[in-house]
Amino acid sequence: MAIEPNFLDELRARTPLATIIGRRVKLARSGRNWKGCCPFHGEKTPSFYVYDDHFHCFGCGVHGDAISFVMQMEGKNFPEAVDELASAAGMEVPKETRRSREEVAHVQSLEDVLEQTQKVWSQALYTPAGKAGLAYLTGRGLTRHTIEAFGLGWAAEGRGSLAAVLEPHGITPHMMAEAGLMRLDEDGNPKGELFWGRVTFPIRDRKGRLVSFGGRILGDGQPKYLNGPETPLFSKRRLLFGLDRARAAVRAPRPKGVPPTDLIVVEGYMDVIALHQAGFKGAVAPLGTALTPEQLEVLWQVDPSPILCFDGDGAGRRAAARAAEVALPLLKAEHSLRLCLLPEGEDPDSLVRAQGAEKVGVLFAEAKPLSAVLFDLLAGGVNNPGPEERAALRRKLVEVAALIPDKALASEYRSTLLDRFFETFRRKKGNKRETGGGAFSGGAGQNTVVVLDAVREQQRILLALLLRYPDVVPEVEEALCRLELVGSFAAVRDLLLDLSAEGLLPETSEALIKGLDGQDEKKLVDEVLTGGGLPMSMQEQDASLAVAARTQWWHFYGLLHFSQFQQEVEQEIARFATEGCDSAEWGRLQPRLEALARLKRGEMEEAGL
Ligand code: UTP
Ligand code: MN
Repeated sequence: MAIEPNFLDELRARTPLATIIGRRVKLARSGRNWKGCCPFHGEKTPSFYVYDDHFHCFGCGVHGDAISFVMQMEGKNFPEAVDELASAAGMEVPKETRRSREEVAHVQSLEDVLEQTQKVWSQALYTPAGKAGLAYLTGRGLTRHTIEAFGLGWAAEGRGSLAAVLEPHGITPHMMAEAGLMRLDEDGNPKGELFWGRVTFPIRDRKGRLVSFGGRILGDGQPKYLNGPETPLFSKRRLLFGLDRARAAVRAPRPKGVPPTDLIVVEGYMDVIALHQAGFKGAVAPLGTALTPEQLEVLWQVDPSPILCFDGDGAGRRAAARAAEVALPLLKAEHSLRLCLLPEGEDPDSLVRAQGAEKVGVLFAEAKPLSAVLFDLLAGGVNNPGPEERAALRRKLVEVAALIPDKALASEYRSTLLDRFFETFRRKKGNKRETGGGAFSGGAGQNTVVVLDAVREQQRILLALLLRYPDVVPEVEEALCRLELVGSFAAVRDLLLDLSAEGLLPETSEALIKGLDGQDEKKLVDEVLTGGGLPMSMQEQDASLAVAARTQWWHFYGLLHFSQFQQEVEQEIARFATEGCDSAEWGRLQPRLEALARLKRGEMEEAGL
């Protein structure tokens, strides 16, 4: 029994080799890779290198991938090692993917069908029949060298012409259909060749094995491009055009002083080829679809921060935003993206031709980290948002940051996005930034239940104060928005912020509570309000207590984030000193000064905690 190569590829892709090996061998970073002392022969100085998909010892020559490492370290056979790694990766080895020898031979025969076809088509380009195809390619600026390097070809006119050439080699229409060269009718019988009258682009997997073809019509007909269908060899979800060459180029050893080759993701076949010809050897493209999570994982195996290129027009920006949303749930500290928006209406192929490689190189070098451009993509041209739009965008930003599973990274994105939000849409006119930004993480370092309980209680009181004194909300909006609140408290905060943003916040607590819509909201608010914790005098409504309420609010805020709070207050003071302030602004600062002073005096206990 053999196991389907696609499954094994996915297993290898999902298995972090350095982690598997790192459990047995002490590894240290060595550039993009890892090294350590070889576990297979005794050595004192490390000559055992771990790359993203294989290991190699320069001492004893041992070499392999995750599966062979487990086999050699643990004395397991191949299926056992696969089972172990699959369960570690949360994958099941499906029974039906285990293939008989005949099936493996069959897959090999499909590869043969494609290779025979490739021979026919690439040669045809240089015959009289292929003249138009060759003229088309050279007319688009490709050199003979490039055409040969990519194995471009010509599929002759006429729907039976390939079958006629392959038949003498013992290749039947059924085999052609399985290899993705013919369509099937409803009864599963081969019916008509797919590629004819087109220039052809061989599609290879990351190891360079031929798996399918693309074909472009000469001139303006429809469909402009055809791609082969899914076959046992070809999975569009996982494959990228040009990856075999890009991977080799990114990994090639380079002399000192030569910058690394960037992995660059573009849209089309011709973009990949034109960029390669212009010296950008790391160019790849998905196959006519939006980038998939599988493709992102494959890209990250080659480069920790690939560049994604998009047209700078509206559609390109939307495509970039979509790609970002696919990527966010997969982001890690060591896996990010850079985005490059091209001048409107241009693709890399047209740009290289119009402006030359040097200018395009500058564009790539200026590609921005995802974290820096995400706000612009999501805000997408919103200039003067109304209250609802503003609230919706804020929610969206918070939601998007929450897609990132890594807590610290999510928190970083969240504060970067909110910083930009307040910078761009701040409602107080003419004010500059008053906070220093920076990531908040409410739970960082608080690993005992007791501390967490205290944080929870502080957060509850913080919200209870606002429910009692709704008019405080607009004054503390920005700080409130930044807090990372536990559990359902975030929902209460959102409720308050939304009401405030829409100008619907009642002046009194009674009106606020009465006006709540559903049972859910009532329950959330009840949870905050029961349990007390407000100083006795504040349980009642009293306008003279307004200042005390504000001071109290900032006091609790400061308890949760002291250094941030202190920094904010100091910046505000400095700003007033240089720019002056009106009496309302001065009035708003007082409760914060008082709260800060109290915190500095160490009046933690006064809060009843
Ligand atoms: P584009 O339509 O953006 O064209 O297709 P392009 O790459 O600039 O092509 P040229 O320059 O006119 O030759 C981008 C990619 O989308 C897929 C192909 O993979 C193409 O490379 N595509 C496009 C299709 O699969 N089918 C189509 O009909 C068109
Ligand atoms: Mn183009």
